[in-house]
Amino acid sequence: MNDSISTAAQLIRSGELVAFPTETVYGLGADVFNERAIQKIYETKGRPSSNPLIVHIAELSDLSKLTDTVSDREQALITAFWPGPLTLIFPKKKGVPAITSGGLSTVAVRMPAHPMALELIRAAETPIAAPSANRSGKPSATHHAHVRDYFGPELCVLEGGATEHGLESTVVQIKDGVPHIYRLGSITPEDIERALSMKPVFETRSEHSPGTRFKHYSPEATLEIVESERWADLVESANKETGFMAPHELLTGLSSDIPHYDLGPAKDLPGIASHLYSALIALDQKGLKRIYVPAFVEEGLGLALMDRLRRAAGQE
Ligand code: TXA
Ligand code: MG
Repeated sequence: MNDSISTAAQLIRSGELVAFPTETVYGLGADVFNERAIQKIYETKGRPSSNPLIVHIAELSDLSKLTDTVSDREQALITAFWPGPLTLIFPKKKGVPAITSGGLSTVAVRMPAHPMALELIRAAETPIAAPSANRSGKPSATHHAHVRDYFGPELCVLEGGATEHGLESTVVQIKDGVPHIYRLGSITPEDIERALSMKPVFETRSEHSPGTRFKHYSPEATLEIVESERWADLVESANKETGFMAPHELLTGLSSDIPHYDLGPAKDLPGIASHLYSALIALDQKGLKRIYVPAFVEEGLGLALMDRLRRAAGQE
């Protein structure tokens, strides 16, 4: 085992926080069974205590530490997508501190598909509760440098470079046998439908998923989502107080002294999603008044992409 992982695991065991990479975004983790450590997560992020955390496990056998019941449909989703960017909501076992799930009777669990995250959980010998490693209301960290910028030099950060997906996990609860999607992510509604032969219900603004009610992912600049017919005009009238984040093809007419972030080829939607928060964070550090981003087609991964952009643009 990598030295830094054993040191980080020791910190988790002694009730401290550790930031670590997952395949989605970086997490800010603590031992799920240590209430004081969980309290530190909320304080460090400035997170409202009613916004519950996701618990990360490395083995299926860890699930029985958190819940007593796994239904056939939940099992089908686990088989299809774990380890991977899917969070499932289960009835919470008594021993899981109430503070972990914002006082709810349920607990959110996922098995991340990242070797450093899995090694950390195994070495710490406990499931790790971890929200995204950003200050509350800011874009999630998709690189260890973002985590450093948010929390400074004191925090232990496992450095894994850029994350693969760049959007937080899809959050699903099976209710009365039916999948309800609380948060869109890289695992799309079609993926869920294929795994269960059943259409999911969308509840992405739900009172059942407290996190989706809070303002999210916001840059300081005003983010504006632009329909395609207006794009060329905006590119033409660009000035140094406006920034552009867009697929490569849409930036070709832009003068090189205008702040911009190239999200990669238009065809590569996963690539664009993986750069989304880096783009928001990088452009926001330039102190711009306004950032323009084109609207994406709302199907497949485009649904999650547009969901995050709307939240960042403050459209509820
Ligand atoms: O990809 C991810 O999910 C990342 C990495 C670190 O795993 N984590 C993450 O955590 O995005 P966070 O805390 O930023 O978002 C947790 C989401 C929130 O929308 C919250 O409302 C929802 O999960 N959630 C957590 N527990 C829940 C529960 N018991 N019932 C309903 N929603 C829950
Ligand atoms: Mg978050």
